[in-house]
Amino acid sequence: SKDHLTTIDNHLYIEDVDCCRLAAEEGTPLYVTSERRLRENIRRYHRAFPDAEKYFAVKANGNLAILQVAAQEGMGADIFSAGELSLVRLAGIPRDMILFNGNSKSEKDHIAALQAGVRISVDSNEELEHLARTARNLDSEAEILFRVNPNVSPKTHPKIATGLRSSKFGIPAEQVAGTYKRAMELEGIKPVGLHCHIGSQILDTAPFAEAAGRMMDITRAVVAEGGNVERIDLGGGLGIQYQPDSTAPLPSDLAKAVLPVIQDSCRDMGIFPQLILEPGRSIVADSTIMLTGVNVVKRAHVNFVAVDAGFNVLARPMLYDSYHHVLAANRAEEQGEETYTIVGPICETGDVLARDRRLPRLVRGDTLAFLDAGAYGFSMASQYNGQPRPAEVLVSEDRWELIRHREDESALLAGQTIPSRLMW
Ligand code: LLP
Repeated sequence: SKDHLTTIDNHLYIEDVDCCRLAAEEGTPLYVTSERRLRENIRRYHRAFPDAEKYFAVKANGNLAILQVAAQEGMGADIFSAGELSLVRLAGIPRDMILFNGNSKSEKDHIAALQAGVRISVDSNEELEHLARTARNLDSEAEILFRVNPNVSPKTHPKIATGLRSSKFGIPAEQVAGTYKRAMELEGIKPVGLHCHIGSQILDTAPFAEAAGRMMDITRAVVAEGGNVERIDLGGGLGIQYQPDSTAPLPSDLAKAVLPVIQDSCRDMGIFPQLILEPGRSIVADSTIMLTGVNVVKRAHVNFVAVDAGFNVLARPMLYDSYHHVLAANRAEEQGEETYTIVGPICETGDVLARDRRLPRLVRGDTLAFLDAGAYGFSMASQYNGQPRPAEVLVSEDRWELIRHREDESALLAGQTIPSRLMW
């Protein structure tokens, strides 16, 4: 259902823009986002969860134009740093719909959150005490949720499973009610709810239902202690379909799995908390492709095609062995004739973006499109090996606009100084 991607005269189009033209005019590597697809993805969540607040997980994509679209479409924000807080405030996301998350916040982070007046997700008993002190010093009161470790296995890549007992995130489930009680007594703190996030790229709704059940158990324990639970945040994590012949649950499937669990238990308890979700990947991933130019085709042990984007531009394949589907943007109607391993320009053997892909016979100058690159794509890009970071464009119908300039080499020098004693 990637109807924002089509083929016309052997060229790949995103909405009504020819990807070959984009590559020629803006250069490669290039991140290209379909505004229509982005808006559709958000609206799908609104339809599935009409009563929930949806907080976009900014770590997935921190581009201001994309955050602006999310704000226009009524999303809040899940932020993990003071930097992300500045971005979402600039994009106009209302403070009442921002949750400052994180397992390792500094005093500066707490001050930034308190001064902006956003809610804070508290990840440990120790953080609670630090935050209370800081809030009192500022004569302010922190509205907090507790990040709970629900001990649920999400069946995903181990590096992105976050809700297991062994993960660094959250307060162990059995401690939460006691911590909540302590928070109610603390001056400077107002506990208003519970938060969890079990992992990312989760392709089965059962773990979400299980986590919702655990959250309800914990809520019951908190309510029994006299706690007010006004907000329940189930985090993000809904997976997407990276492999063309795979399937992924939709927001409506997620709703079917979790809403009955929450509604039934809350009715039993006589409470009606605000539900919150924190989707990242399922909002942006498939809205965006990454275009990269072919530099070299080498026939060796295998056929290597070396492109101008490596793990500096798209880190996911190297970090998580993740699959991104690849199309030849200027040979979009040609049959796969050869099997290629696609590698980048970085000086490491692990700089492999894709293995064993059937593609048309490629030559220098061709353009490849990596699909589903909108989540954790640019946001994890680096300047490793002296590579300035790529540009980003936003496409709407037959127009496109640059939403981030390509860095030039001066970006590599930014912030650096040479001590004067070395300058002789
Ligand atoms: N909320 C919290 C507290 C999170 O830690 C995350 C993601 C999300 C929401 C959004 O999850 P999503 O809906 O995007 O799955 N770099 C990895 C993914 C790391 C996810 C980190 N936390 C990747 O490229 O697969």
